[in-house]
Amino acid sequence: GRVAVLMGGTSSEREVSLDSGRNVLEALRSRGVDAHAVDGIPALAQALAEKRFDRVFNILHGNKGGGEDGVLQGLCEALGVPLTGSGVLGSALAMDKIRSKQVWLTLGLPTPRYVRLSPGDDVKTAARVLGLPVIVKPACEGSSVGVSRVFDEAGLQAAVELAARYPGDLLMEQLIVGGEYTVGILGDIALPSIRIVPAGEYYDYHAKYQAEDTQYICPGLEGEAERGIGALALAAFRALGCGGWGRVDVMRDQAGNNWLLEVNTAPGMTSHSLVPKAAGQLGISFAELCWRVLETSLP
Ligand code: DAL
Ligand code: MG
Repeated sequence: GRVAVLMGGTSSEREVSLDSGRNVLEALRSRGVDAHAVDGIPALAQALAEKRFDRVFNILHGNKGGGEDGVLQGLCEALGVPLTGSGVLGSALAMDKIRSKQVWLTLGLPTPRYVRLSPGDDVKTAARVLGLPVIVKPACEGSSVGVSRVFDEAGLQAAVELAARYPGDLLMEQLIVGGEYTVGILGDIALPSIRIVPAGEYYDYHAKYQAEDTQYICPGLEGEAERGIGALALAAFRALGCGGWGRVDVMRDQAGNNWLLEVNTAPGMTSHSLVPKAAGQLGISFAELCWRVLETSLP
């Protein structure tokens, strides 16, 4: 049947999504799939109403007009159209870093301590509760948009103002000093972990998509440690009710403890992105990866 490759949209990650989407479209076509680009959820809704597609490959990143917050998933489910990735619940929970943490904490899965910030909260008190350094983030954005690391009290206000430009709650989290890791999930398996070594301070938007000097080490760990991070990632993914495919971001402290940061339910598929690198480590080409992700949408 015909496949809609849903991309673009109106979230802060629009450009990343268009880049991912073009790669997926080309890969699916190279495998003989009758795939077509669709920009944004309103255009998809129209096309589905006209019965122009039988299946959706979702590569729309972000919330509020992005495809990762459950809204798109509800639309497709209501219309009976198979969609790649997580369903309504997993998408909505994973898009919200605070709710994700609440689920993990309930289950005893490790995630850095945090404080939810509401307008008017005393940010210095919050930072003292956690202890500096902290990281301030919008609860529901991706690609490190609106994220700041804060090392002294003087930096708190600017960090909160930046994060507050985005819709939804803010989160102040204890900064874990150590290594940044990510684990791709494809179907029921955890792909080899990737250790990310940004040339600059951390893996921000620039290091993610623009820098050519970010280093990626895959597998990121060996032996028991590698099995452990994979098992934790899979447990975190399942705890949120996620399915299909995704990517779990993890910090590893200097003592070798893992700390869950978040789950991405429509991870980037740009030339700089991580899931394609991890799949490549297993000998899975980009086109094969796209094909397998599409297969996960089979009812
Ligand atoms: N939010 C971006 C697209 C990612 O997780 O790869
Ligand atoms: Mg994310």
